[in-house]
Amino acid sequence: MIFFSPAKVNLFLRILRRRSDGYHDLASLFQAVDLYDTLHVEFSEEDCLTCNDLQVPLGPSNLIWKAIYLYRQQTGYAFKLHIQLDKKIPMEAGLGGGSSNAATALWAINALHDHSISESELCKWAAEIGSDVPFFFSSGTAYCTGRGEQVNSLLPLKPSSFWIFKPLFGLSTPLVYNSLRADLLPSRDPEAYLQTFIKGHHAYFNDLEPSAFELLPKLKEIRELLRSHGFEDVMMTGSGTAMICFGEKIPSLSKEIFPFQQRVHFANRSPPHWYGNGQKTCFN
Ligand code: C5P
Repeated sequence: MIFFSPAKVNLFLRILRRRSDGYHDLASLFQAVDLYDTLHVEFSEEDCLTCNDLQVPLGPSNLIWKAIYLYRQQTGYAFKLHIQLDKKIPMEAGLGGGSSNAATALWAINALHDHSISESELCKWAAEIGSDVPFFFSSGTAYCTGRGEQVNSLLPLKPSSFWIFKPLFGLSTPLVYNSLRADLLPSRDPEAYLQTFIKGHHAYFNDLEPSAFELLPKLKEIRELLRSHGFEDVMMTGSGTAMICFGEKIPSLSKEIFPFQQRVHFANRSPPHWYGNGQKTCFN
């Protein structure tokens, strides 16, 4: 069976404080978008993960394995899987590709087992895999708090399309968080920003930008370059390095600077269905 694994963006991302466990408390409006990896999942004689992209690690560090091991451990079911991952979401981009793949794998494995585990239970398990994994069990639009794992599903926002540009270089999430000075950030009220979006307006910001720009000053230049091309709003998503750009693209942006450039739309799901691409929706 084929399952769609969407990317996410953070329409705003407020970092509240560093915690004693090393994580950060945050408050963020997450939105899934119609940029999809796909997972072909079937029972098999041996466990096997393959991918069209040679850069993708296929060993135990791949979160898909964590999803498989966790599902086995929690249920006691014995099964082997062949998963073929077709990668479209760039890595080290802040687009949640790895987290989405893990969430989709959990959902897919459960679909192969006649949905024997409830979605709310899967969502709890997802938090053990990574902070961003539970979001994908939402409607596709969610206000996330805690370290990101506390998910409040929202009604879909007004449909919107925008551009994603990613430079060649990426950034590691722990590195960006570790160099963050949470005490120096402006004290914006995330609840007020949430209400702004719910009312159909927008007010984008990302508290991870200062530390990402300190680590990679070139990234700030890239944001300015995109702004100079006439986009109304340009902001890094998640821990970077992808930039989300609202407004029309001037069609002359170099593929050398931005090997990844794609127009995307907000994507939502209607539980109990998983995400689809509109043409080839996967229902189980
Ligand atoms: O939860 P996840 O494994 O995806 O997090 C990766 C790393 O990102 C963590 O080890 C931590 O360094 C950082 N992080 C954080 N605060 C969060 C989420 C992630 O500091 N809310």
